[in-house]
This record gives sequence, structure tokens and C-alpha cells, in this order.
Amino acid sequence: MSTHKIAFIGGGNMATSLIGGLVANGFNANDIHVADPNEDSLTRLSEQFSVVTYNDNLSAIVGCDIVVLAVKPQQLQSVLRTLTPAWHSEKLLISVAAGIRIEDMARWLDTPNAAIVRVMPNTPSLVQAGASAMFANALVSDEQQKLAEQILAAVGIAIWVDDESKMDAVTALSGSGPAYFFLVMEAMEFAAKELGLSEQVAQQLCQQTAFGAAKMALASEESPATLRERVTSPGGTTERALHELEDGDLRGLFENALVAAALHSRELASQLGQDDAE
Ligand SMILES: NC(=O)c1ccc[n+]([C@@H]2O[C@H](COP(=O)([O-])OP(=O)(O)OC[C@H]3O[C@@H](n4cnc5c(N)ncnc54)[C@H](OP(=O)(O)O)[C@@H]3O)[C@@H](O)[C@H]2O)c1
Repeated sequence: MSTHKIAFIGGGNMATSLIGGLVANGFNANDIHVADPNEDSLTRLSEQFSVVTYNDNLSAIVGCDIVVLAVKPQQLQSVLRTLTPAWHSEKLLISVAAGIRIEDMARWLDTPNAAIVRVMPNTPSLVQAGASAMFANALVSDEQQKLAEQILAAVGIAIWVDDESKMDAVTALSGSGPAYFFLVMEAMEFAAKELGLSEQVAQQLCQQTAFGAAKMALASEESPATLRERVTSPGGTTERALHELEDGDLRGLFENALVAAALHSRELASQLGQDDAE
């Protein structure tokens, strides 16, 4: 990636973790431009990584062949409209903004033939353990696809989906997913405290158990169902606990939860994709 220049529009949490990952992977910080209206953010990024900073978005993207949009979804429309004068067809646009569809981005950029990759990252990207799903429009070249993958892989795993509509399911699974696991941890810690453990002990054991289970699932080629069966001895304590969870229809609850999240993701995309009254 050494011959490429990347502009980040927005220098907040997501941009900071992506820039951190790129620099840690040997990408030249002088080839990273960042634009943000917040002077403090720019100073922090330039001190931390020696990136080149800008107060205005248009200047930041000049000379860059990759532009990463890392602003809030609500800001995307006005940001894209400001980039139009400096856009040309060789540039690759990568958006990490949740819920904004490619056709809306191309319209706001006023460039129907823009090469665009839409990414749905998740919050563990902030600790380099993210799970990002990506979709590229037909104008993205193979080389640009590889570049987008390298950028997102700097903060975790990056997986392509073959249809943009699958982003709603991705949002329901990995986008919102960290919150489901936090809720499960919260509930387990509460129950353990009720059973007499101190908050600190409950928290430490719960966190490490979640980490250990995820690590085992990642390291193993077995399905979660097989791994679960292996730790469930007949007549044992785990079996008793799982029986309670199945009885309470945990599977049904998760199915409902993911369906609700996917539906809402689609609704939000339609709302966010509307043009502001001008
Ligand atoms: N954080 C995550 O883990 C996560 C996960 C999934 C998806 N995402 C997506 O990533 C995007 C960025 O999220 P974030 O958490 O990094 O947000 P953030 O920390 O709020 O960063 C956004 C940055 O953009 C700046 N900004 C506002 N208006 C701008 C403009 N017109 N031009 C340039 N910069 C502007 C903001 O400055 P001010 O603070 O001054 O407004 C802020 O520094 C969002 O679209 C979100 O959906 C994030």
C-alpha cells in the first residue's frame, strides 16, 4: 500500500483506530491526511501518529486515491456534497458510516460512476478486534477491493458480502452484536453476585469466560453446538443451566432480536438516505 495516499474525513474514534492500525502495519503516516472541524482532534492525531491534518475536507482529499468517510451517518450527506469539486473517477470512496446506501452516497457526491465500498464495522475495532463486513459496487476494481480489505483488516477481520441488502443482517449480527454479549455478561454477573460472589470476582470470572469461549470457538473447527455439547456432561450443572435457558426460549429471543434489528436497519437506511430539503 506504500504508493497510496489516504484521506480520512472525520478524525474521531473510528478514524483513530483505523489510522492506528495502518501505522502499526507500516503504512507511512505522511501519506495519511485527516480532516476534522475539531482542532483538538487534529492536534491529538498529528501528535500521536504524525499524520497530515486539514481544517477543510476538500483540501484533505486532493492527491489522495482513497477517501475514508468516518463521520456520523447524519453528517455524510453534507460532507459528500462538499467533496464533489475535487472528485475524479480514479478515487475510491470507503464509508464506515452505519446505514448509508451506496446509491445515496453516489447521488450526494454527484458522481454516478464513483467507486464506493460500504463498510459495517463494529466497536471492537477500537481495540483491534473488529468484525467488518464490506460491500463494493461494480465500479470498484480488484486492486481497490484489496486496498479496502487491507485498511479494515488493520483493526480486525474484514469480510465481503455479495449483496448490499445483506448489510441489514450484518448490522443485526456483528454491528449490534457486541451489545448482546455485554447484556449476557451483565446478566451473568448479576446472577453470580446474587449467589454471593463479590462484584470484582464476578466481573473477572465472567469476562475471562467470555474471552475464553470466544477464543475456543475461533481456534476450533467445531460448531458452537459441538463445543457446547462437549462442556455439557449428562446430569451435570451445565445441563441444568442450559435447560433453564432453553425453557425460557433463548433461541427464540435471539431470533426476534436479530430480525427486529435488521428491519430497523432497513428503515434507518431509507430515512438517512433522504435528501435534505434544499
Ligand atoms: N465507533 C465505532 O465503533 C463504530 C462502529 C460502527 C460504525 N461506526 C461508524 O463510524 C462513523 C464514525 O464513528 P465514530 O465513532 O468515529 O464517530 P466520532 O468519534 O463522533 O467521529 C466523527 C468525527 O467526525 C467529525 N466531523 C463532524 N462533522 C464533520 C465534517 N463536516 N467534516 C469532517 N469531520 C466532521 C467529528 O467532529 P466533532 O466531534 O467536532 O463533531 C468527529 O471528530 C459513524 O458513521 C459510525 O456509524 C462506528
